[in-house]
Amino acid sequence: MNEIFPSGAINTEAPPAPAHPDGARRPLGPGSWYARPAARYWTAPPAPTAAHAFHAALPDYAPTRLVELPSLAAELGVGRVFVKDESSRLGLPAFKALGASWALHRVLAERGDAAAGATGAPEPVDAGAGVAAGPAGAAAGSAGMAIGPAGAGAAEPVTFVTATDGNHGRAVARIARLLGQRAHVFVSRGVHPEAVAAIEGEGARVTRVAGPYDLAVREAARAVEDAGVGPGAGSGSGRQASPTVLVQDSGRPGYERIPGWIVEGYATLFTEIDAQLAAAGDGAPDLVAVPVGVGSLAQAAVTHYRAPGPGPGTGAGAGAGPALLAVEPEAAACVLESLRRGARVGVATGDTAMAGLNCGTPSSLAWPALRAGLDAAVAVSEARAARAVRDLAALGVPSGPCGAASLAGVRAALTGDGAADRRAALGLGPTATLVLLSTEGPAANPHGQDTSAHGRSPEPRGSDANAYSQTPDPYGPDTHQHEPATHPYGPGSTPQGPATHPEA
Ligand SMILES: Cc1ncc(COP(=O)(O)O)c(C=O)c1O
Repeated sequence: MNEIFPSGAINTEAPPAPAHPDGARRPLGPGSWYARPAARYWTAPPAPTAAHAFHAALPDYAPTRLVELPSLAAELGVGRVFVKDESSRLGLPAFKALGASWALHRVLAERGDAAAGATGAPEPVDAGAGVAAGPAGAAAGSAGMAIGPAGAGAAEPVTFVTATDGNHGRAVARIARLLGQRAHVFVSRGVHPEAVAAIEGEGARVTRVAGPYDLAVREAARAVEDAGVGPGAGSGSGRQASPTVLVQDSGRPGYERIPGWIVEGYATLFTEIDAQLAAAGDGAPDLVAVPVGVGSLAQAAVTHYRAPGPGPGTGAGAGAGPALLAVEPEAAACVLESLRRGARVGVATGDTAMAGLNCGTPSSLAWPALRAGLDAAVAVSEARAARAVRDLAALGVPSGPCGAASLAGVRAALTGDGAADRRAALGLGPTATLVLLSTEGPAANPHGQDTSAHGRSPEPRGSDANAYSQTPDPYGPDTHQHEPATHPYGPGSTPQGPATHPEA
């Protein structure tokens, strides 16, 4: 059973301070930190690896860079700091296309649709699947990803429906367009107008939602229901009668299959890091910092680093893996709050420049992995994130606020009052290697770069969130078709029952 807390209940600190150096150094409050060092001894189920082969077969695929920043290592008192720069990934300014491309591929493959642009190209993953990486079709154009569009003889185009706080929706819209399919994207309040325009620029139908991300998720799910089917391929019922499919990057009980494919797609990012660290003469990282919204990317991190296997940084029977640190905005720290309470809970969200992290409810699919495999979670202020954006830019790494949250999070954890205890909890010594995921570039999320109405500095959280906090489960009544119960963490590992929020 989920609970919802009125805005302000998560942290004992004051609302986010304006972007000011003093605010950026404000000490961490006790409610802004969680640690469970035993997590790095936990072993996850083996991780699926097919997505990497799929991505690697895309003609425009290239690993994003891993940048070493010695000045940050000196500042943080560790051995080496690397930043994984996702400011340009498959032609988009955030990592999200990794998940969307694999998920849409899997959905269409399962439907048995044909993509004419892939004619003659080897199917890199699923024999007989309908969507292959191949020569760019006409619709690919300058888009930077060469997946062919469906052509004559293909089934009726699918409309992929999703909710977004920016990056996922743009990735779904882009991939759908490249595949000759359609997209309908529900955009939550607070997403920068340029990010919304970019989604429209992909040819997607955009519905603006006058509320937070969780409301957009609910409206997207309802749109699919109104179209006459459940969550598309998630039903597991084979070929779908309707071409409308919900492709959400967050799971809920009864809708976890497609979110699972999205998480599988994210694994490519970590596979790249393994190779890049090895090339840099470093084996496994000692800490990986992950910006967190609903926790799907963090789930991919847990799955990668805690799964048994031979790769560097994996559980691999070698004892402890790296410490995994989740970083969230103070305005939307739902994973931190869930970890502190030991149960998946929803929180009322406020405004934050870290728009992609502005989520009020952890993914039900991610939650068991996060609970078991995350070492620590930290909530960062707007000021800390803004400072991290500036500092990374000065060091040659273009980060948006969500991407820079990783640096803000490690600074909050490793410096200031109580830092010695937090370092000990993370198992970090002076020679430690840190990897910070910078998950978006400034172009993805221009918050903080202008003073327009929507790009304004965020207000203190909770400004108008409470109206929504009184609502039930962000996904609404659990009326979707249910999938077969194949939860990767086994029976009983998922919170039981629908994630209903009692009235606050
Ligand atoms: C740039 C960026 N970083 C991180 C995240 C967090 O990913 P997740 O929602 O899977 O936790 C998002 C989610 O949209 C994002 O857009």
